[in-house]
Amino acid sequence: MRKSRYLVLIAAIFFISAIFGASHGKFSQNITDEETQKKYNYYDNPQVCLGCHIEKFEMWKTSQMSKAFTGDFFQAQYNKLAIVDAGRDEKVKGLKAGCIGCHSPSAYKAGDYPPTPTSPEKIDSFWNQKGGIKLFADRGVFCDFCHTIENFEGKSPFNHNYVSNATPEIDPKRGDLEDPWSPYHETETSELHADAKFCGICHNELNDFGVWVKATEIEYQDGPYPSMDIACQTCHMAPIAGKPAKMGPVRDENHGHWFGGGFTGFVEGAAKITINIEGTDLKAGEKINFSIKVHHLAPGHKFPTGASEERDVWLHVGVYDKEGNELDHIKIPRNPDDPNDKYFITTNRKVAYPTHSRYSEPIERDSLPEGDRLYHSAFIDSDGNFTYAQWYATKDIENRLEPLEEKIEQYQWTVPDKLAGQTVVLRAVLNYRRMPDSYAKFLGIPTRPTLEVSRDERLLEISK
Ligand code: HEC
Ligand code: HEC
Ligand code: HEC
Ligand code: HEC
Ligand code: HEC
Repeated sequence: MRKSRYLVLIAAIFFISAIFGASHGKFSQNITDEETQKKYNYYDNPQVCLGCHIEKFEMWKTSQMSKAFTGDFFQAQYNKLAIVDAGRDEKVKGLKAGCIGCHSPSAYKAGDYPPTPTSPEKIDSFWNQKGGIKLFADRGVFCDFCHTIENFEGKSPFNHNYVSNATPEIDPKRGDLEDPWSPYHETETSELHADAKFCGICHNELNDFGVWVKATEIEYQDGPYPSMDIACQTCHMAPIAGKPAKMGPVRDENHGHWFGGGFTGFVEGAAKITINIEGTDLKAGEKINFSIKVHHLAPGHKFPTGASEERDVWLHVGVYDKEGNELDHIKIPRNPDDPNDKYFITTNRKVAYPTHSRYSEPIERDSLPEGDRLYHSAFIDSDGNFTYAQWYATKDIENRLEPLEEKIEQYQWTVPDKLAGQTVVLRAVLNYRRMPDSYAKFLGIPTRPTLEVSRDERLLEISK
């Protein structure tokens, strides 16, 4: 009797672990509750759309949208910092769900938060891009979620206030095509999908302390583009030749789904810099003044935008020999009249906190050559310290470039004696990077590359 009970118990353990094992392998998420699984699956998997919308799928799977949950940066920041803070700090307990509302909206709608972390072999690293065949929370921001959105709640779009009601049936797919017909799904015309407000639903974020920690759509509305009828979609989903669906007609409205953003192709030329110097025949020991114009050109919003506490745009100025070796680094002069100046000049002092300064040790703020002009947002926590945790920002101190703005940066340089008799290059380079190396190292993820936005040079003849 005892023995058979024992056997039953073993069988039960086997059975249970088999289910867990299967769901783990098959679904990549440990969702055991059938109701939750069902709600997730009210939204079709992206691979369902692949059959007829191949091109869209191929583009989407390379985009950040498809990595909104599985991205190494998101996984690390959410699982290692945000969830931990939500568990210990009443003020930010909403984060478990909050982050997911934008980064894995179907998990949010299914009530599965925090979702099981993405298994290590499925994490999308910045350098190692994975495919788009994904299930449950891993799907990130995917086809059926965007195309089921009907509207947003309230007057303006922010904090994932989408109205999206997927059902067990195949729901109509919303878009802006004229007279579409599909054998798989109904379609419904949605003007919202062609409107910048659609993007604002997730690209405007107000944190628990009343600070706009992302405001890309608000920045856009304040700029010159709405009146020119240029929407986010015009730049980020520009039409390409071809068919929206395999069996449909060729159309002008075949929108790209790469959602290009802070990567080479988009960042190059986002702004243009020009050196303004009076003479180029200089004397060793001479003190000169020159300026650099930084002209915001391409983005429809501020530059940088989005996660602007992490994104850095900085201006490095130096004097080089013909081989490109830096002979002298020309630093931006401090402005004693501006108490916030320190936030806009690169420093490697350990003054940046990965989360609230009460809960973490500081790391190097910028991990860049010191003394360069930096354009970004400095988020300040309730103790007055610089933080990378947008959820603890109580203040945003920023100097980002406004659409089409021209900023003039003034420099002073004393020509070093050692350069006498040489021809040298005065070079200014505007750079972009997605996050500081110190922060990537803290999170245990690979560091991001530096991308060149613009450069300008002048040859200088230095006499004795
Ligand atoms: C971030 C939200 C988002 C995601 C994710 C997304 N789309 Fe779209 N899609 C849009 C928007 C917005 C438009 C309309 C653009 C316009 O009209 O300006 C659109 C348009 C379309 C259209 C209509 C034809 C066209 O190009 O205008 C099809 C078909 C389509 N998407 C399919 C897909 C498929 C398939 C996927 C996944 C592989 C996908 N979409 C992922 C937002 C999204
Ligand atoms: C069996 C083929 C097929 C499948 C599967 C399919 N579609 Fe479509 N879809 C079409 C066709 C055909 C059209 C019409 C294209 C046209 O008229 O240019 C279309 C149109 C659309 C539109 C445009 C609607 C509008 O009013 O502008 C969207 C959005 C869309 N599909 C999304 C999806 C999504 C999301 C999926 C996956 C859940 C999906 N489709 C799966 C064939 C398919
Ligand atoms: C359901 C929420 C949601 C909607 C709606 C949405 N986005 Fe996004 N988008 C995100 C999230 C989340 C990310 C960040 C993914 C990541 O890197 O983790 C993102 C990333 C991006 C990026 C990549 C930025 C970068 O370089 O890292 C671009 C560009 C973008 N979105 C443009 C748009 C545009 C244009 C629209 C409107 C047509 C739109 N998004 C609508 C949630 C959304
Ligand atoms: C006139 C063209 C244009 C318009 C309109 C536009 N963008 Fe951009 N966007 C760009 C360019 C160029 C970049 C690359 C430079 C940068 O990072 O700002 C960019 C970058 C981005 C990024 C990545 C920022 C980063 O570095 O992390 C996001 C997210 C984004 N855009 C979203 C949007 C949304 C949402 C809208 C509408 C509210 C929009 N954009 C409107 C041109 C545009
Ligand atoms: C209102 C929607 C929204 C909420 C809420 C939100 N995010 Fe995001 N998140 C975005 C968008 C949109 C981007 C892309 C902006 C950009 O590229 O600059 C983004 C970008 C990011 C990135 C950068 C990803 C990369 O690869 O560079 C990380 C990390 C991130 N979010 C983490 C979080 C965490 C953690 C939370 C919760 C504390 C959170 N987000 C809450 C919309 C949101």
